[in-house]
Amino acid sequence: MNILILGSGGREHTFAWKLAQSPKLNSIFVAPGNAGTESLAKNIPIGVNDFEGIKNIVLSNKIDMVVVGPEDPLVNGVHDFFLNDPELESVPVVGPQKAAANLEGSKEFAKQFMQRHNIPTAAYRSFTAQQLEKGLAFLETLSPPYVLKADGLAAGKGVVILHDLEEAKQELTSMLKNEKFGAASKTVVIEEFLSGLELSVFVLTDGEHYKVLPTAKDYKRIGEGDAGLNTGGMGAISPVPFAEKDFMDKVHIRIIKPTVEGLKMDNLPYKGFVFIGLIKVGNDPFVIEYNVRMGDPETEVVLPRIKNDLVEVFQAVADQTLDTVDLQIDKRSATTVMTVSGGYPEAYEKGHEIFGLEDVSDSLIFHAGTKLENGKVITNGGRVMAFTSFGTTFRDALAKSYDSIKKVCFTKMNYRKDIGFDL
Ligand code: AMP
Ligand code: GLY
Repeated sequence: MNILILGSGGREHTFAWKLAQSPKLNSIFVAPGNAGTESLAKNIPIGVNDFEGIKNIVLSNKIDMVVVGPEDPLVNGVHDFFLNDPELESVPVVGPQKAAANLEGSKEFAKQFMQRHNIPTAAYRSFTAQQLEKGLAFLETLSPPYVLKADGLAAGKGVVILHDLEEAKQELTSMLKNEKFGAASKTVVIEEFLSGLELSVFVLTDGEHYKVLPTAKDYKRIGEGDAGLNTGGMGAISPVPFAEKDFMDKVHIRIIKPTVEGLKMDNLPYKGFVFIGLIKVGNDPFVIEYNVRMGDPETEVVLPRIKNDLVEVFQAVADQTLDTVDLQIDKRSATTVMTVSGGYPEAYEKGHEIFGLEDVSDSLIFHAGTKLENGKVITNGGRVMAFTSFGTTFRDALAKSYDSIKKVCFTKMNYRKDIGFDL
């Protein structure tokens, strides 16, 4: 098989690393990829939303399957583009079609889906610019904190949580009237604040059957103790220690099953990953959000724990025979710690050489924002590379990730030293 992966982060490097272990694999291509994927695959410098460019790559390299990493091309309909093109329709795409990708593309759509299928989530109402006055009045009926969410994709920045009513009103006004998040905040969802520990559950479905993948918890804030600005993710742990069996049974019965059955009932074809962001309130799970892809850096701990041949698993998704796959999970814990460029998630520098990679032997290194220049690996993004390790406990695994990071350096390298602090 020749496989094309779309994306350029740690998630895509992990996919490439895992797929490359399959005897069924012939070649891997990654568009656009990074320095890490370049060691396993052929990088192709085109964007993930350049559908015509993707078509050319698929035809000229005889690609047999496309695996979509990020949400944008899915929400923009890359899967539908393949199905509607006679030259591409027989090439399977891992990732849902546009209609179902709306679960991530529109918070309001996701909330309506959950309501329709009785899936537990925070109570909500949504408002457009014309309904601003009603939205402001609604805020007055709530008690703080106030949770405001831009309806559309806002690169992970569209959720604002405020404690002060006046600030919440100002925020709602700037989202709706001034389109603070562009078209994404033409509609705003206001929802009940839920308090508890967060975790992520990943489901792979072929539209008929599904497999529940290992749980993971990511650390989104830049600062230690979960302080400071949100990032794409600073580290992750799998499995999540507080996701015990009775809790996961509830997740299964109340959330996973009705989600997959709801997709079928609503006629939303889905072949791909469903990432369910959950919050544990008391001992009950509530859905915070759906994503229609794997998480990053959660992929860097979830995929290494899956023992199966990933090419076979994806082939089963394409053939709708996922029920025949017996998923084998490594019992050990996996952790990942993300190194980032100083300044991230605000302004940061790129182009610094990364030293010491060859000295790391106890961890897997998954590149995110890196590129190769004259044979040197240099920084090329905010999140630079993730250090994944295994251990009998997550603490053992973390100790290895931190030891490995100490062997590597680049100018202004930063990372969180307290991943797992809350467990
Ligand atoms: P999202 O982009 O939907 O994942 O939201 C970003 C973050 O905001 C989540 O990871 C939660 O920490 C927080 N959040 C979102 N919705 C709620 C809610 N209803 N109650 C409490 N926290 C929330
Ligand atoms: N780590 C969170 C995400 O991928 O959205």
